[in-house]
Amino acid sequence: MELERSKKLYEEALKLLPGGVSSPVRAVKPFPFYTAYAKESKIYDVDGNCYIDYCLAYGPLILGHANPVVKEAIAEQLEKGWLYGTPIELEVEYAKLITKLYDSIEMLRFVNTGSEATMAAIRLARGFTGRNKILKVEGSFHGAHDAVLVKAGSGATTHGIPNSAGVPPNFVKNTLQVPFNDVEALAEIVEKNRDDLACVIMEPVMGNAGLILPEKDYLKEVRKITEENDVLLIFDEVITGFRLALGGAQEYYGVKADLTTLGKIAGGGLPIGIFGGRREIMELIAPSGPVYQAGTFSGNPLSLIAGYTTVKFIMENKVLEKVNRTTEAIAEGIADQIEDSNIDCSIGYIASMFCVYFGETPKNYADALKLDKEKFLKFFWELLKEGIFFPPSQYECCFVSYAHSEEDVERTVEAVGVCLRRL
Ligand SMILES: Cc1ncc(COP(=O)(O)O)c(C=O)c1O
Repeated sequence: MELERSKKLYEEALKLLPGGVSSPVRAVKPFPFYTAYAKESKIYDVDGNCYIDYCLAYGPLILGHANPVVKEAIAEQLEKGWLYGTPIELEVEYAKLITKLYDSIEMLRFVNTGSEATMAAIRLARGFTGRNKILKVEGSFHGAHDAVLVKAGSGATTHGIPNSAGVPPNFVKNTLQVPFNDVEALAEIVEKNRDDLACVIMEPVMGNAGLILPEKDYLKEVRKITEENDVLLIFDEVITGFRLALGGAQEYYGVKADLTTLGKIAGGGLPIGIFGGRREIMELIAPSGPVYQAGTFSGNPLSLIAGYTTVKFIMENKVLEKVNRTTEAIAEGIADQIEDSNIDCSIGYIASMFCVYFGETPKNYADALKLDKEKFLKFFWELLKEGIFFPPSQYECCFVSYAHSEEDVERTVEAVGVCLRRL
């Protein structure tokens, strides 16, 4: 596989961008490929290689790359200008659609990234309750802001820096941690801190420490414990929103949060974040209330039209049914390949997410840390040679899109078998 141009670009980038990249997980060792363009299920690099893409920009592209309907909608908006700094009709329409799909969301605000959404949701939970502490799950990732950069998953864990330098201890002294899938630990810590605890924030399905599924009734127990102790529950559905179901993990598992954060798919591939929830809480957001939140690019027409068109497309084309079937076919095919190999690995999946674990399927972050991330990286490179692009970390999930074909599935399963045997 020829990667000369990518290698050269990375050498230059290292002098200009910290780690050579604009976001840590992209800094694949020894160097990442540089993308020239992407279409449907394929991504093409600057050296002319083509890969079936399961990274899909870390989740937003559920319709695949450059979906023509979304592209057309963006192009139409471009003709009308792309930033106004005034309200637009589309934010009302999109808000109506989201509040219809998410029972727990009565009001919402559009922001620019998932990080911004969780930051504001946490501030709002603190403002609403008048309490300072928050409780997060070990290994979850809610974006790169101070309060949640403790035992953070994803790129932070990949690069061995789950607790960031530059975050004053004072800023995280109110951030408590609990292992995922441990009802007793959660109950204990919530009860003990109930007078100071504003919220529990969690990814209902963990997607940043590999893929970690909630055990049966875990989320219902989480809801019960938070309700009984009068603590707000924030579901970070930046990955699971519009994916597990149109109404996210909350619809899939039948559990309602007080506040919800959305992103990724919600922007159809353009930057977006959304936080929303019960009216009495959301009305505390400025200017209707005292919890401040603002942004020049918030609710920008391009992100809104790309997201709105994507969600409508998902609804009108039975997208989730199709991507879930495709994912199941890939996962079952890979499970057979794993069984035929002598490698200590396993696979997990749900909806359009899957993860090949080098080790046992994890139940929490401590388990995930036992996975063989070096072996995963070898596997990643072997797959690239076979024209398959998985996200370059054991702690990321693979995503499947509407554009992935049966042929893609067959090629992928076969390539996984070949690569496992080479390890
Ligand atoms: C669950 C979750 N929350 C929040 C974020 C942060 O979103 P963004 O990268 O748009 O800031 C991410 C990003 O991967 C995420 O996976």
